[in-house]
Amino acid sequence: MTDQNPSDQLRIIVLGAGAGGGVPQWNCNCAVCVAARSNASNVLPRTQSSIAVSADGENWCVVNCSPDIRQQILNTPCLHPRDPQTFGRRDTPIHSVVLTNGDVDHIAGLLILREKQPFRLLATPDIQHMLRENPIFDVLDPSYVVREDLPIDAGVEVAPQLRMEAFLVPGKVPLFLEGSAQDGAGPPEIGIETEYTIGLKIGHSRSARHFFYIPGCAALPNDLKARVRGAALLLFDGTVWENEEMIAKGVGAKTGRRMGHMSISGAEGSMAGFASLDVRRKVFVHINNTNPVLFDDSPERGHAESEGWEIAFDGMEIVLQ
Ligand code: MLT
Ligand code: MN
Ligand code: ZN
Repeated sequence: MTDQNPSDQLRIIVLGAGAGGGVPQWNCNCAVCVAARSNASNVLPRTQSSIAVSADGENWCVVNCSPDIRQQILNTPCLHPRDPQTFGRRDTPIHSVVLTNGDVDHIAGLLILREKQPFRLLATPDIQHMLRENPIFDVLDPSYVVREDLPIDAGVEVAPQLRMEAFLVPGKVPLFLEGSAQDGAGPPEIGIETEYTIGLKIGHSRSARHFFYIPGCAALPNDLKARVRGAALLLFDGTVWENEEMIAKGVGAKTGRRMGHMSISGAEGSMAGFASLDVRRKVFVHINNTNPVLFDDSPERGHAESEGWEIAFDGMEIVLQ
């Protein structure tokens, strides 16, 4: 194999940097989607939210399984089936799939991975329960796909030498459970810390090397700030630039907050929140198609970069060593 990893490095590949709907979204006429659809030179298309991580250069964990997973695997040679002489006619280097929430953009791709292929599927007990309640996910044959509970605040080896620790972050129930998961009618509670929305500390099991992946987060409480302070790398929720952006652009009635996402800009935003936390490398992921940072030449992109943030793109690879 060419993918050798003699050290304790972590390889991270952004499979999809977009939020739900991707860029361009199939039915959207916002400025970013129109530009992306016409192959404008200042905006890259982006598939839906997912990363792949490996600690041994051989086995991979896919974190969040988007409806675009088939294309994402095709686009990523290290996720292709390996040498048939050694690995047989059916093979994948994907050892496991881990979920950080139960939203459609993070679970629908599980249906694509249904071809009687062994892998481990890890999620919090509440998300596992939600998957079990929906019989369509039974296409993942239980004699091949092993579903495991991901505990909160405890480390688990999710692939050889790859360790993850889940922690609760402010969020909400998945959109399709709004109204049914909570007592009574009315809007769901936003910003609650439940097993429906987690962040992950992802590290090498042989060293202290680690990073944080938090693709959905409604607020930045002090305990979360303390957790990520001084980290080598953070991949964070970059869904919206401004809370009211979808309304202002005439594509929706919801604020970012109502969708469970804090905005990038503003006094309550993520740029301000992380400004003094000494995180060495900061990358926005899960970026909605309405977000002006997606234009390479926008003032918002310049602003984010001047605050030390990178804007993830599909295929972005980061080696932590
Ligand atoms: C979100 O991140 O807000 C969700 O992916 C929205 C959705 O389920 O479409
Ligand atoms: Mn999403
Ligand atoms: Zn759009």
